[in-house]
Amino acid sequence: MFGSTTTTLALALFVTTFPAVRGQYTWPDPKYEELESLRWDQIGLGSTFLELGLTGSCTAFVGGSNTGRANAADWIRTAYHDMATHNSEDGTGGLDASIRFPEEQARAENAGDGFLDTFNFLSAASDRFVSYADIIAIGAIIAIESCGGPEIDFRFGRIDATEPNIPGVPEPRQTLDEHIASFRKQGFNQSEMISLIACGHSFGGVQHTAFPDLVPELNDTTNTQSAVHFDTTFTNFDNNVAKEYIAGTTLNPLVVGSNDTTNSDKRIFGSDGNVTMNAFAADENLYANICAALFARMLDTVPSGVVLTDVVTPIPVKPTQVELIHHGDGTLLFNGGSLRLWNVPVNTARAVNASWTDRAGVESPSVVLRHTSGMYPSASIVVNETSAVASFRFVVSDDSSVAAQTFTMPYLVLLSDTSCRLSNTIPSAWNLNVAVRKGTIPSRIYATRLNVLPAPTVEYAEYDIWTVLILSDDDTFNSYGISYELDGKTFEVLTSIVSVASVGLCA
Ligand code: HEM
Ligand SMILES: *[C@@H]1O[C@H](CO)[C@@H](O)[C@H](O)[C@H]1NC(C)=O
Ligand SMILES: *[C@@H]1O[C@H](CO)[C@@H](O)[C@H](O)[C@H]1NC(C)=O
Ligand SMILES: *[C@@H]1O[C@H](CO)[C@@H](O)[C@H](O)[C@H]1NC(C)=O
Ligand SMILES: *[C@@H]1O[C@H](CO)[C@@H](O)[C@H](O)[C@H]1NC(C)=O
Ligand SMILES: *[C@@H]1O[C@H](CO)[C@@H](O)[C@H](O)[C@H]1NC(C)=O
Ligand SMILES: *[C@@H]1O[C@H](CO)[C@@H](O)[C@H](O)[C@H]1NC(C)=O
Repeated sequence: MFGSTTTTLALALFVTTFPAVRGQYTWPDPKYEELESLRWDQIGLGSTFLELGLTGSCTAFVGGSNTGRANAADWIRTAYHDMATHNSEDGTGGLDASIRFPEEQARAENAGDGFLDTFNFLSAASDRFVSYADIIAIGAIIAIESCGGPEIDFRFGRIDATEPNIPGVPEPRQTLDEHIASFRKQGFNQSEMISLIACGHSFGGVQHTAFPDLVPELNDTTNTQSAVHFDTTFTNFDNNVAKEYIAGTTLNPLVVGSNDTTNSDKRIFGSDGNVTMNAFAADENLYANICAALFARMLDTVPSGVVLTDVVTPIPVKPTQVELIHHGDGTLLFNGGSLRLWNVPVNTARAVNASWTDRAGVESPSVVLRHTSGMYPSASIVVNETSAVASFRFVVSDDSSVAAQTFTMPYLVLLSDTSCRLSNTIPSAWNLNVAVRKGTIPSRIYATRLNVLPAPTVEYAEYDIWTVLILSDDDTFNSYGISYELDGKTFEVLTSIVSVASVGLCA
């Protein structure tokens, strides 16, 4: 197969880089891989900082010194309040990160600072691949799953609103009829309304600071928010919210609050004669299954016209952080990155080797990758620019199927490490250089700044090494991704993050 010409190899490569159909995932697809990682790399090596938001603990609150609250509950409530502006009749609103706008946060229906805290924390994981709305959805999933909840389907493709949505989040003082109408508008019928609230109110509670009329100030140094919780196990997912309600022992302030006008959970939970709550109290698996389905529907409630992907499933054998970098001296640097094996048991006897094949079909001697978890760091080697690396593969001692999988290496457009900054001090203007293989003529190459949406783009000029001068004011501490368009398709250069801090001084 490696006897084929460069052109055929390149064609095959480009057809598969950004597959139109998600089910046919082929490495590399940086966007899909990043979202898959955010969704699935929850613990241990390779995990994202999202798990740090929970500081490994469902009781933690990062973002202030107040106690009695937890990030997990805030993240779930944020997703619901962002979605709750959906109007299924005209297709507006939904999970679109409009909750980030101060105008929405200032509304009485969004009392409390949990939305601002949540957004400040989660938005740092957003970049040119990941919308704010997708990261809000992932945040809710991580919170629920990490804290005892069921597995929830995650799809991506949410698009961020550019302005606040029309109000629509339910409030405790509204009547049952208003709540039924409100949930119908959001796309949920009465039994689904009862269920979704019983699912969400497995976490957290009502805080005096946000709702001074609903709960008293407690003067408790271990609960400075003066939060009165929905059930006794308010930092993890379980059916106690239903059990305690049915047993009549609940302290849920939306059930036993002194002012019946604001006892919305009481009115809603009892609105079908307790049929749903009785079933939830009796069967924790039923509760978990219904919650998983409804949470997924809640997260997938998006403005009309937004098309979500298929469910993101773990990639079983996943090369990560593989790079091929142009040196300018006739060689390339091949960074083998790491191999992630999905959810494999710890096996200290497992032997993992990597090897790569050049364009003439010659395979390198294999390199032993040492690790005992599912993440196996590989080697970096300098390779001949002419023959370079055409593909690579792994041999895993306890899974013979892995060796059959060959990963084709893109090599037509590369980051060049001739990229350099123009002065010795930072901030500094700098040249971002991209190496384009002779004979390849992209219609466009552009740099996209990470962490800023929508991403500004910068066009390049020359052939072979295409250079963009990036001014210090723009981006001193920001990073760029590099994209290019060839034959009407868009691709990513595998070295996805470059910043002025990562390049040397120009000669
Ligand atoms: C009629 C519908 C609903 C009403 C009136 C309502 C009302 C409330 C109120 C007043 C709070 C206290 C917030 C605070 O003090 O910061 C709260 C908290 C919460 N709600 Fe709801 N809610 C409703 C539906 C939902 C739904 C559908 C979900 C999720 C699926 C949800 C998830 C949460 C969570 C997780 C908290 C805890 C927040 C924390 O402790 O920081 N709620 N809700
Ligand atoms: C709500 O929809 C579900 C299907 O999701 C259905 O089983 C249930 O009977 C409906 N409930 C009401 C009150 O219409
Ligand atoms: C907490 O302190 C405030 C102000 O001193 C007081 O009004 C309130 O009654 C106290 N709450 C409790 C539960 O003791
Ligand atoms: C009960 O709550 C409603 C709605 O917030 C309010 O209008 C009413 O004054 C409250 N009643 C009492 C006795 O506090
Ligand atoms: C639902 O159950 C609670 C707790 O047992 C009870 O107080 C309430 O009256 C019941 N509501 C209905 C409508 O049956
Ligand atoms: C792994 O690499 C080592 C060192 O090159 C080699 O001795 C060994 O045979 C390789 N194992 C496999 C299964 O390829
Ligand atoms: C690089 O590979 C080409 C083609 O295989 C060969 O002609 C050339 O001598 C090699 N260069 C070096 C420095 O090994």
